[in-house]
Formats: sequence, structure tokens, C-alpha cells
Amino acid sequence: MVEKARALQARPGRPVGHATRGTTAANRMRRVDRWLAQTHASLLASEESPLIVDLGFGASHVTPLELFRRMRVPAPLAEVVGLEIDPERVRRASAFAEPGLSFRVGGFEVPTERRPVAIRAFNVLRQYPESDVPAAWSAMTARLAPGGVLIEGTCDEIGRIATWAAVDVRGPQTLTIAVNPWRIGRPSDAAERLPKALIHRNVPGEGVYELFRAADRAWELAAGLGSFSPRQRWMATANALAADGWVLGPGNRDGRVLGGPQRFRLGEMTVPWERVAPSPS
Ligand SMILES: C[S@@+](CC[C@H](N)C(=O)[O-])C[C@H]1O[C@@H](n2cnc3c(N)ncnc32)[C@H](O)[C@@H]1O
Repeated sequence: MVEKARALQARPGRPVGHATRGTTAANRMRRVDRWLAQTHASLLASEESPLIVDLGFGASHVTPLELFRRMRVPAPLAEVVGLEIDPERVRRASAFAEPGLSFRVGGFEVPTERRPVAIRAFNVLRQYPESDVPAAWSAMTARLAPGGVLIEGTCDEIGRIATWAAVDVRGPQTLTIAVNPWRIGRPSDAAERLPKALIHRNVPGEGVYELFRAADRAWELAAGLGSFSPRQRWMATANALAADGWVLGPGNRDGRVLGGPQRFRLGEMTVPWERVAPSPS
């Protein structure tokens, strides 16, 4: 992928960032939306009408619409704003606006009237240089409501594999890997879908490389369960990694249950960011 070398700069009156390919697809965000709705239910309940932003929604209104429908389950008055830096995409999506769902032009400065409790930015930073990530994260998290979360990640075309960083005003907190265990060869298949902050770090000496080595080893050791059920094999892998302190287990972090059987059975594992944080370059 060709990365644009221009620096991320705020220019008065202009959205921060630049338009990129608008590739998207229905239902590819189901894993991250489920994670947000379930693990952050108390955040979504913290306001009567919480605002959630879908930043960089792409060539179709479909993923903001799905986000809106899904968030309305735990938060019946949730509002979703689809933000996109390409005005023509916003114009086309606006035909699908409805009460609680709107579309507007904007970038990493997140120009919404209210502060969002959550921002989902998927497959956006992937097309920026790695060096832009800290500034983009800071710009977006600076706009969050107190306790809010930025979910910045990547997935494949059909949402079979997704990974994301949960970032708040303190910085990145966790990395989540979510897969369909029936459709992977081994956990490290997710490496090519890592968020931009980590995708170039899957090399010896980096935490994320060691994570995938440990995960592939545990997956091999659990091979016997695979014939019974790939889900059982994933759960055994995640349990082994939790026992070794790689992934979060059933306890809670910041009041959220991000690991343990309830999450593992969905094909997830969540890793404390400090285990995978890139080494200083
Ligand atoms: C690959 S599409 C992803 C669409 C959708 N999020 C998905 O994952 O299916 C990336 C979109 O992000 C938009 N984009 C890139 N930088 C942006 C920024 N700084 N602010 C808002 N949108 C941006 C691009 O114009 C493009 O439409």
C-alpha cells in the first residue's frame, strides 16, 4: 500500500486528514460493534442520548446505519454521526439520514456539536503513515466526553478478522483481536489486519510479534479440540494466554469485563496495551 508522506496538519477551517479509498461493506463491523455495545454498556448508559461517531465511513452510509441500529439496543436514544472527509460521500450518505442518524464533513478534529462517548474509526488510519498515528489519536480523544473511548482498528473485507486499539485520553489501553475461529488457519492470520500503530511491528523484538508466537503455539497445543470445535480451540488458546498473562482474563479493567469465557467464546482476546506497545524507534 502506498502511504502518503504529507504530515497531519490542522489548517483553519479544513478537516484534518485527507480523503482515501472509500472501500466498505455491509456487516464487516459486526465484531467491533458487538464489543462496544456489550463491554461499554455502562459508558453508553452514562448519558440519556449518547453520541457515537463513525469517523471515515467511506463510500456508503451502510456502516454508520448499522452502528446506529446496534447502539440503539443498549442505548435507545443513542445518536450516531457519520463523519467523512470526502464531501461527495457525505452528500450521497445524507439521503439516508433519519432522526438520530446524520452525516457531515469532518476529519480527526471531530467537529460535532456534542462530545461523543465513543468514536469508531475503522480502516481509516491504515492508509496513513505510522508516524501520523499519535497526532490522529490525540486529536480524536481530545474530543471525547469524559470516560469516552476511541476504537481505532482494521478488519478484512467481510469482517472475518478484526483488530482494534481502545484509546482514551490517557493513551492506548488495550488491543483486541476478534476472529471467526472457523475461518482462520492460526491466530497470527490477524497480523495483517493490525491497527496502523502495530502493523509494521510484527517483527522479532516487538511485543506484538511475541504475542502472535505465543498464540500460535497455544493454538497448536489445542489442535485436538479443533476437530471438536474451532470455538473450543480458540477458547483453550485464549485461556492459555490469559494464564501466561498475555491476554485479559475474567477480571475487569476500568470496570469492564474484556476477557474470560464470555468474550473468548465470541472469538475475541484482549491484550493490555503495555504488552504490545511498539518499542521506541
Ligand atoms: C477504507 S474507507 C473505510 C470505510 C469504513 N470505515 C469501513 O471500514 O468499512 C476509509 C474512509 O476514511 C475516509 N477518511 C480518511 N481520512 C479521514 C479523516 N481524517 N477524517 C474523516 N474521514 C477520513 C476516507 O475518505 C475513506 O472514505
